[in-house]
Order: sequence, then C-alpha cells, then structure tokens
Amino acid sequence: MSNKIQSLSGYIHEYQKSVNEPEKFWARIANSFHWHKPWDKVLSWSSEGPHVKWFENAKLNITENIFERHLFTHGDKAAIIWEPNDPKEQNRIISYRELYELTCQFSNVLKAQGVNKGDRVIIYMPMIPEASVAMLACARIGAVHSVVFAGFSSSALADRIIDCEAKMVLTSDGNFRGSKNIPVKAVVDEALEKTSTVEKVIVCKRTNAEVTMVPGRDIWWHDSIKDQSLEHKAESLDSEDLLFILYTSGSTGKPKGVVHTTGGYMVYTQYSFENVFQYEQNDVYWCTADIGWITGHSYIVYGPLLSGATTLMFEGVPTFPHPGRFWEIVDKYQVNQFYTAPTAIRALQAKGLEPVNPYKLDSLKVIGSVGEPINEEAWHWYHDHIGKGNCPLVDTWWQTETGGIMISALAGITPNKPAHASLPLPGIQPIIVDAEGNELKGNNVEGNLCIKFPWPSMLRTTYGDHKRFKETYFSAYPGTYFTGDGAKRDHDGYIRILGRVDDVINVSGHRMGTAEVENAMNEHPRVIESAVVGFPHDIKGQGIYAYVICDQEGISNEALIQEIKNTVRKIIGPIAKPDEIQIVPGLPKTRSGKIMRRILRKVASKDISNLGDTSTLLNPEIVDQIIEGAQIK
Ligand code: WT7
Repeated sequence: MSNKIQSLSGYIHEYQKSVNEPEKFWARIANSFHWHKPWDKVLSWSSEGPHVKWFENAKLNITENIFERHLFTHGDKAAIIWEPNDPKEQNRIISYRELYELTCQFSNVLKAQGVNKGDRVIIYMPMIPEASVAMLACARIGAVHSVVFAGFSSSALADRIIDCEAKMVLTSDGNFRGSKNIPVKAVVDEALEKTSTVEKVIVCKRTNAEVTMVPGRDIWWHDSIKDQSLEHKAESLDSEDLLFILYTSGSTGKPKGVVHTTGGYMVYTQYSFENVFQYEQNDVYWCTADIGWITGHSYIVYGPLLSGATTLMFEGVPTFPHPGRFWEIVDKYQVNQFYTAPTAIRALQAKGLEPVNPYKLDSLKVIGSVGEPINEEAWHWYHDHIGKGNCPLVDTWWQTETGGIMISALAGITPNKPAHASLPLPGIQPIIVDAEGNELKGNNVEGNLCIKFPWPSMLRTTYGDHKRFKETYFSAYPGTYFTGDGAKRDHDGYIRILGRVDDVINVSGHRMGTAEVENAMNEHPRVIESAVVGFPHDIKGQGIYAYVICDQEGISNEALIQEIKNTVRKIIGPIAKPDEIQIVPGLPKTRSGKIMRRILRKVASKDISNLGDTSTLLNPEIVDQIIEGAQIK
C-alpha cells in the first residue's frame, strides 16, 4: 500500500494524525516494510538522556527492503543509471537484479576480508555505482559505513578513520572530476600513515592511474570479487543497530560523527522521498549531490532504492565538458525529478541562457533545491528556465542530523512559495523560539528553529561522545532539538529558513565550522591568531573570510596569504580554502577575551554603516584599522 499523499486536504489530514498520535501514525507507515520481527514499542523517548529509539526490538535488513521486497515486481527495472564524467565514455544501466547481485557479491567480499557486524568501513570513492554497492553491502552484513567525501584531504580522512576506528577503507585508484584526474589512492596511503586500525584497503579501478599496492593490506576490487557468490543472506539487524556514521562540521572542535540507525532511517527516507518528489513508478529521478554528503545517502541511495525508483548517478561536474551538461543529461535520460543545490543553479545562471536553450527539458515534472537558502533570483531563474514555469519547485530544508527532508513543499500538493521551505512533512513538529526558548506561536514570527518531537530518522548520538550530542543539540533549549538555523514563519504560515545562527558557514551548500578553518590556519607557523566569518558570495551563497594575525618578517603579504590558503587546503581540503584573507594587527575582543565576530562579519560583508555597540571592546581602535585594511570603498 502506498503511503503517498495525494492532495492538500490529504496532507492536512495526515499531518494532524501524525501530531495527535505519532506512534500510531509511524506504525502504519512502517507496516509497509518487511521486518523479520515486529517492534515491541514504536517510540521510546527521553529528553533527559537524550535517548531515542524507534521500532524498538524490531529486526530487519534495509537491503532486503530494497531488493527482496521488489525483485519479483521489478527485478529488471533500472535501479541506477550511471552517467560518466566524460560523455564519450560508456554509461551503465544497472537493474535491481544486477544491483542485488553486486551487493550480495560484495557482502561476501567484506565477510571474507574479515569485516563483521558492527565494524566500521570507510568509503572514500568517486561517484561510481561501486560506491553505492559498497554502502549497500555494509548495510547487508551490518557493518557501519562512513562515507568520506573524496575531496577531503589525507589529514581530514585520517581524523575520521581514527575517530571511528575503521577496520577497512574502500577507495579507487583515481577520480575523474571534469578535466581533472585526482590520484585518491595516494591520499589514502598518506592518511593510513597516521592511523593504526585499518587492516585492509580495497581499491576499485577507475582511472588506471598508477598506484602503490601495499602487500597484505591492499587488494584490487576486481580481484576481491572473483569467486564470490552472487547470493548472500542478509544479516537480521536490530532496528537501532548503527547503519552509518557521517561526519559533519559543528561550531566547535573537530567534525562530529553523526550516527544514524537502521529502522527509523529506512522508514523516513522512503516516506519523505515518495512524498516530496511524488515519484511515480516509471519516473527517472536525479539528485546531483555527492554520496559523501547526507543528500547522497538519503536521496541518491537509500530513499529512491527503497522506493524501487530509478536513480541517476552522475560522476562529473555541471560545467564539463560544457556548461549545458546538466540539461543535456536531463534530456538524454528524460529525467522527471531533478534535485540540486542553489550554488549550482547560481553558477549555471551566471552562464546565461545559451547553454540551456538547446535542450527541451520537457520531461521534468518536479525540480528541487537543497543545502542552503535559495535566493529569490535563483529561485525564479530555476523555476522559469529549467522548470519552464510549470514544475513545482521543492525547497527542501533538512540537515545531516535529521537524516531526511523535514520542511518542504510536497510537489504539486502543497503550495509553492519562492524562497520558502514552506511546510513540515507529516511527523515533523518544528517550532520557532525566542532567545529564552519561548515558543513563538502564530504567524509573522522570527527566531531560532527547533524540532519539539522526535522523528524516525533523527540522529541518535555523535559517535563516541554522547555528551557532545546533548550539548550541541539539546542544551540551548532543554528537551528540544535545536537546529542551529534561524527561521521565520510568514503571515501565511510558511516557513522561511534564514541561515545558521551559530559559528557555522554554508559554503556552496557545504557546512564548514569557523573553528575548524581557524585551527587549520593556526597550523601555519607564522599564524599567531585567526578568526573566520562568512560573507555573502554571489555563487557560493557564503564565502570564507579570514582575519589573521601573523608574524610576517621577511615575507610579502601575498606570498603569506597563498601559503596560509594552501595550509587549509592540505589540512581540510579545497572546499575549506578561504576566499579572502586579511592580515590584521589585532582582533576586536571583549574584556572577557571573546572575539566580537559581529563586527568582523560586517566588515567582511563590506557593510560598515552600523557596527553597533563597540563600547565593551578592550581595543576599540582596532576596528578602524581593520576597516582600513579591508579597503572598503
Ligand atoms: C544546513 C545543514 C541537508 C542536506 C544538505 C546540507 C542549510 C539545508 C536548506 C534549505 C535553507 C538549508 C541549513 C542547515 N540548509 N537545506 N532548503 N534552505 N537552508 O546538509 O551539511 O548537514 O547542512 O544546511 O543551514 O542547517 P548539512
């Protein structure tokens, strides 16, 4: 039975049921899945711990719900359409039956190589079907995958391996990204010099780059699968067994491992996928994210495959070999639902309509946006020129921590409003609170966005550090999940996300902790102190602006700035490289030693008309010096 909502009144009805009787509501949705053993209790929740369990004591395997549940009805249907980086290379179309066999085969490989239930496996791979196979095989045997975006540096990779004590790394010889050929195996080798838990590395051949294979540790993917059976009996897992860990940046310290578990995540990703995108059985759906991010997990792999959908996976970048590549792919495969990030839209919008015009784009039924607030100009361009004015545009708000889409229009069902995420999905209870945590009821209110009741795909903890979980999400407003975002409920009751209210910046839809970038810069021997803020950036949404106090003896500003940028690139990766670095004689600090970031944000945004109260500063004279150095006209 489908759980797809068909009308606005249906949405209102379902939403009310989900709030009035959440357990009854989710039990009904969960009933359409295959469980080895039903749950004893739908939800156990204590905001004290905080502890949350969904479908307690139920047993299942998420991959059986992808494969065995669907094989009889659509074994021959395309599960993955893979479009390579270079359009001249052969594409791949993998049916549900083939994907099932590849998954079983690789499950047997993992077992043969000593990976057992509960072990952590790092996936550091390009956008190729084997990356999905790797995730699914882990899920099938009950190993915990942790996908690391293959653009991260070796030290970022090492940090993640160390934090989750990974036993295995899955990688490739190299990655094709546009005109680049990136030697990723070498990055893994470098990372493994700093770690001690990894026993085996399986390397998938992709670019034929030359790599060093460490005897006894490294195995080629194609060798590993030889002689492995195409059948594998899925492990029966507890609903609360870990499915994956995904690292994400916060406002303090190192990235944290967001933990998602099996049962609730499965139920919510399928439910939200079908409802937001209104997927119909013969549709071709395409999400342009990378599997290294939560969007790739939930809406390239798990949500669509659980729904028996055809999910398109694209290896390359939007502008290679030409800026019409996205639209060419839409026409080539007659894509029906297209899901991307505002930063990609803005970058393509900047190329004008010439690259769009040659394509019909008439297969599109739904277009979507995710990752950051979408500005009205980009919204209209996307809606008018890609959606041709007749596709609902779903602006989907959610987070790594939420596991699935939380606030969004349901395509064609609930109304569209430019730049508004709009309404919560059934089961999601967002509230807007003031600084003291009082709920601001009614319309026309603005404050901090919290979620007051648990939902099935919420994070369960931060890996290895439950205290941090509590402090990060449940201490600002005790008992309530705090998102870190500001939001507004407008006069019609639609929610608009205003962006982060903490020290997190959103660069091209990727989350960066300012502290993380500062720590990386501080590794440079000449950097004495630094402060990082976000500033409005035409394409990226937000750019990274860094103020640094340096020991500059014998080196030019320019050379030093370049060196500091390279340090960040090396420690975190290219996505964290500051757009602007300003060398300053000091930083504005309060008497208690806190940097007054408000001022730094204003200067970085070139908006110095109203700097607010600076009387609590220890060194007010520094503000003028910083403004002067910023050369604001
Ligand atoms: C942060 C989460 C969820 C997948 C991608 C990012 C921002 C996300 C929207 C949106 C406005 C958005 C928020 C959120 N964000 N989607 N539709 N409108 N802001 O996942 O890296 O965990 O980042 O991205 O600030 O807190 P993430």
